[in-house]
Amino acid sequence: MSEEVIVVEGNNTLAGEVRVSGAKNSALKLIAASLLGRGKTILHNVPLISDIDVMIEVLRRLGATVTRDGHSLVVDTASVDKWETPYELVSKMRASISVLGPLVGRFGHARVAMPGGCQIGARKIDMHMVGLEALGVEFDIDHGFLEARTPNGLHGAHVVLDFPSVGATENLLMASVVAEGTTIIENAAREPEIVDLANMLNEMGANIVGAGESLIEVVGVPSESLHPCEHTTVGDRIEAGTFLAGAALTGGPLRVVGVDPSYLRMAIMKLEAMVCEIESGPDSVTISRTLPLRSTEIQTLPHPGFPTDLQAQFMLLAALADGVSVITENVFENRFMFAAELIRMGADITIEDHHALVRGVQTLQGADVSSTDLRAGAALVLAGIVAEGQTRVHNIAHIDRGYEDYVGKLSSLGVNVSRVVLDESAL
Ligand code: UD1
Repeated sequence: MSEEVIVVEGNNTLAGEVRVSGAKNSALKLIAASLLGRGKTILHNVPLISDIDVMIEVLRRLGATVTRDGHSLVVDTASVDKWETPYELVSKMRASISVLGPLVGRFGHARVAMPGGCQIGARKIDMHMVGLEALGVEFDIDHGFLEARTPNGLHGAHVVLDFPSVGATENLLMASVVAEGTTIIENAAREPEIVDLANMLNEMGANIVGAGESLIEVVGVPSESLHPCEHTTVGDRIEAGTFLAGAALTGGPLRVVGVDPSYLRMAIMKLEAMVCEIESGPDSVTISRTLPLRSTEIQTLPHPGFPTDLQAQFMLLAALADGVSVITENVFENRFMFAAELIRMGADITIEDHHALVRGVQTLQGADVSSTDLRAGAALVLAGIVAEGQTRVHNIAHIDRGYEDYVGKLSSLGVNVSRVVLDESAL
């Protein structure tokens, strides 16, 4: 048996310029939204990552034709004639459930395998269901599948979400654009990826006002009037934040290109609080640091709060900062598994419920560590860059889900990092 790992040599730096790819969390939903266009949608700036491969497979199983040319995709949904997404795909990637909204919108019928729990918490879908029910969707659970039907069509409704769930807001948007009448989504998620999705739906002929704010109004249009469009995916703010964290660790200077700095406002504020120097351009952020990292307090919250998807990367910064930092995770209940791996590298972290008390240490030691999810995996590679000696990061499929050519991009910034296939004797 063999295993591919990422090997990082420590005591290294990370500097130069890097371009981020299109946002994973946006592109996945844009592909799902193309189902509503009944024809050839062209998407640009689609990242080359394995989660996108899964979403392409979801669309192919529904009957779509998908062709790829580098970072562009042509998704032809004219021939879609099925509405089932099997467990095999949903269990690989929970975001597969974002076809639920567009399928009920277009066909009045969807059959999507129920997602199980996952490593970063229970991740329920009750808010998706309650919201869609208000629009006229009826659900049944059948042999592990969620069966959705709209016996009386979709109609507008006033939906108040318990929590600004990203996925629920997106599913509601993709169904309500073709509902009869007006839908109000209150306490909607405000992430930049929601705005990107709403922009694309509007380019297709939908009528959405207020995306990016807590209250979104959707005036439904007839399903047949939505048409395919050509759209460019917004830059990945989480990939950008990951590289910025890497440069904050080593001092930089690093210029991250291809992202709107306003999407990273809270992360930039925290980097500044940790004494990094930041300069923002129209689509770039430059970071450098000369003084020792200073401890801070971080609470993850829905956008525009601090993103949970950058929590691990900033816990790493806290682990090497002067003083004691407190990190509070409010979005996902089990997202501190990364701490255990970092402790194995010499970090001093105590977890109590959803708070982490991080006492800064002078150095970390290279070790064999394991990615527990994709953000944790990316952060472990960064930890290896500043640790003493060599670090081998295992379970790197997690990293490949969400980071395009992570090793190649880090190498271009001067990091001594490579992918290595270990045979059994070396494991
Ligand atoms: C998306 C992102 C993920 C990010 C997260 C929060 C994608 C593919 N993934 O995930 O990277 O970390 O937003 O920014 O876009 N919840 C319920 N019931 C529901 C829906 C959600 O209880 O019906 C809970 C979840 O368990 C979680 C919290 O709400 O604790 C936030 O979930 P949500 O915002 O929906 O995240 P995702 O869309 O799954």
